[in-house]
Amino acid sequence: MEAVVRLIDVRKYFPAGAGILGFGRKYARAVDGVSLDVYGGEVLALVGESGSGKSTLGKIVAGLLEPDGGKVLYRGEDLFRILGRRDVRHKIQAVFQNPDSSLNPRLTVFDTLSEAIKARNPKLGNSHLLEEIVKLLKVMGLSEDHLVKYPGELSGGEKQRIAIARALAVEPEILVADEIVSSVDVSVRAHILNLLMDLKEMYKLTMIFITHDMGLVWAVADRIAIMYTGKIVEEGPVEEVFKDPLHPYTKMLLTSSPSAKLVGAYVDEKFKARGEPPSPIDPPKGCKFVTRCPIATKECWTQEPPLKPVSANRKAACLKI
Ligand SMILES: Nc1ncnc2c1ncn2[C@@H]1O[C@H](COP(=O)(O)OP(=O)(O)O)[C@@H](O)[C@H]1O
Ligand SMILES: [Mg+2]
Repeated sequence: MEAVVRLIDVRKYFPAGAGILGFGRKYARAVDGVSLDVYGGEVLALVGESGSGKSTLGKIVAGLLEPDGGKVLYRGEDLFRILGRRDVRHKIQAVFQNPDSSLNPRLTVFDTLSEAIKARNPKLGNSHLLEEIVKLLKVMGLSEDHLVKYPGELSGGEKQRIAIARALAVEPEILVADEIVSSVDVSVRAHILNLLMDLKEMYKLTMIFITHDMGLVWAVADRIAIMYTGKIVEEGPVEEVFKDPLHPYTKMLLTSSPSAKLVGAYVDEKFKARGEPPSPIDPPKGCKFVTRCPIATKECWTQEPPLKPVSANRKAACLKI
């Protein structure tokens, strides 16, 4: 399979506290050396606890945030060098958790969608524009009645569907979906997820699906990458990772997830959740997971395990594997 996006040792450090006269300035290592391939047509779930760096990595892949180190390749070219090209900019779109912060409250649904469609196709005539917008609304399970509405007049689920429609209006190749159902009612969650899966087929999308919910991973993803304190600690096909996780952190996530239990995922009480993730400003020297790991030994405190291949399609970063 061909990688459409390739991350090579990507880093993003945010200043956190000024230090004295700029000396000793501290940084939150939000993304701390991530190498990851995203294959064409796959849904790659990016999973981890809050603060692990998922959103930062998602924004980098979407071209919205430039990394401080490493490279992001889009079809072999440096993404941040070619972003100025309109054809490239439209290829990667992102949808975020909160549609209120991504939709302009002063634009009607019609305005929002026509802006997006015109961005891709500036010469489109008005009748075709309306046709395209209505088509898009239908795909999203919305009607023409929504055209004149402002975000304030829509439900949370409707707003999120408009945000997804806007992203699709420019016909992207890659969609970064960052916790897109976390803020919508449970009752419309399944509807939006089903819709997303249909859209994936229809538009032949490659998706990076960011979530902290293992149940969602099982429902939508082909592959999973587990993130901990700015690093990928395990990567592989969802079914294999759920049945036979390699990294102790993956074991902890699965053991403590009721929805993973429901689909028969790995459980081992030895790995039940304990402690909190370390601060990305001052993480442990060796393995970042060492402070919570039930199988850590002395060397884990001093040696940082690299993410290395374990089999043809799986990787893990643990000295004990
Ligand atoms: N704009 C920012 N400025 C400073 N720190 C940030 C910024 N964005 C994220 N961080 C920090 O980077 C780390 C990772 O954040 P984030 O990528 O949002 O994680 P996640 O999406 O997994 O919850 C956190 O410690 C967070 O506080
Ligand atoms: Mg996030």
